Amino acid sequence: MVEIADKMAKVVSLCKRRGFVYPSAEIYGGTGSVWDFGPLGVELKQNLKKLWWRDMVQRRSDIVGLDTAIITRPEVLRASGHEKGFVDPLVECKVCHERFRADHYHLVESHFAECHKGKEIKDNITPARAFNLMFKTFMGPVDSDDNIAYLRPETAQGIFLNFKNVLESSRQKIPFGIAQIGKSFRNEITPGNFIFRTREFEQAELEYFVRPSDAEHYYKQWIEARFRWYCMLGIKKENLRLRPHTTEELAHYAIAATDVEYKFPFGWSELEGIANRQDYDLQTHENHSGRDLKYFDEELGKKFWPYVIEPAGGVDRMVLAFIVDAYEEMEDSEVVLRFDPRLAPIKVAVFPLVKKDKLPDVAKQLYDELKKDFMVAYDEAGSVGRRYRRQDEIGTPWCITVDFDSLKDNCVTIRDRDSRRQERIKITKVKEYLESRLEKL
Ligand code: GAP
Repeated sequence: MVEIADKMAKVVSLCKRRGFVYPSAEIYGGTGSVWDFGPLGVELKQNLKKLWWRDMVQRRSDIVGLDTAIITRPEVLRASGHEKGFVDPLVECKVCHERFRADHYHLVESHFAECHKGKEIKDNITPARAFNLMFKTFMGPVDSDDNIAYLRPETAQGIFLNFKNVLESSRQKIPFGIAQIGKSFRNEITPGNFIFRTREFEQAELEYFVRPSDAEHYYKQWIEARFRWYCMLGIKKENLRLRPHTTEELAHYAIAATDVEYKFPFGWSELEGIANRQDYDLQTHENHSGRDLKYFDEELGKKFWPYVIEPAGGVDRMVLAFIVDAYEEMEDSEVVLRFDPRLAPIKVAVFPLVKKDKLPDVAKQLYDELKKDFMVAYDEAGSVGRRYRRQDEIGTPWCITVDFDSLKDNCVTIRDRDSRRQERIKITKVKEYLESRLEKL
């Protein structure tokens, strides 16, 4: 237990110290379970999103992208079932009025053990009641029930609402998908575990529309594809597993769902869910809006609501999983983040061996050149060994040192983070070297 808490504490501390993640509004004491991404965190997150988009949209002729609004009118979420059904069971401690998710009972137990030792839990806790997780706000200058709007609890609904628009403007035929990355909001009763469960987070979701008779086939295909995607980006296979949902766990719209789980320091937990949403959403939005959301299948010569297979991942959880998985403490307690180079926030660091004799000029020139194509760091402070360690700790795959010989032979030393091997290459070949290393992945 100590070791687990220890690893999480170390990751959280590294994230703050090196600029991956900061508590939001920290100077005011922080906003409960809301986080900001720092200079390195934003790079890592963007790299993840870019790779997701590359593999889910760019490289597929059967999937297109979308970016829909966050503010959502209540009719949408009434039709989708979220107004009624997007609830968690809430219990309240009668002694201090702290609230918990009833199904996170271990938190209730530790609360009583820590704060109200000796008190019987069942006598001091309210019966569970349904608590809706959506954030409510008002549209326009009047705060009244007629002007209620919600911050979307999932990006998926914007996709269903635009199903016909996309179909008509992109001329896709099923099977085809619509993908979206964007912020979602849930007023979680018990958020926690750093950026694992938060109230504001980013989702990367695909709604893949298929013939009902093909749904099972594509459901299995997407489960495998999503599992492979995480492995392809370097997550250790032994830290990933698939877990099908039990019938009781299924969301109101799904007939089947499987989670890709990651072995976080606090236990196996959901990274992404793949669900068979059937024709639930298109059907309900057609019924509530009165607009025809059926698809005409020319081959079959009939109209129907396609079934939907939905791989839905959380970008913030991905960031956490990739950091935890990359984290390695060496014997000398030096920390290395062994990111896949494509994910690394900084691809290469450039150092002059010393701060004199024109070495900084040559190094800065190389830095300026490489900056056109890559995220590059320049560092001339401290010994080269310390500079390597600083880069290892943030996962930079390559470090380049400009030394005295460079002035004569126009070569530099390039050091690999993982093998620690050093190679001497021509300055004019550095860009090509980095490109070929990144392309091979
Ligand atoms: N459209 C389906 C849907 O939203 P979900 O399982 O509720 O399904 C999908 O959410 C993914 O979004 C989860 O697998 C998780 O990675 C992420 N997610 C959900 N709630 C989250 C939260 N409170 N904080 C961070 N990520 C969250």
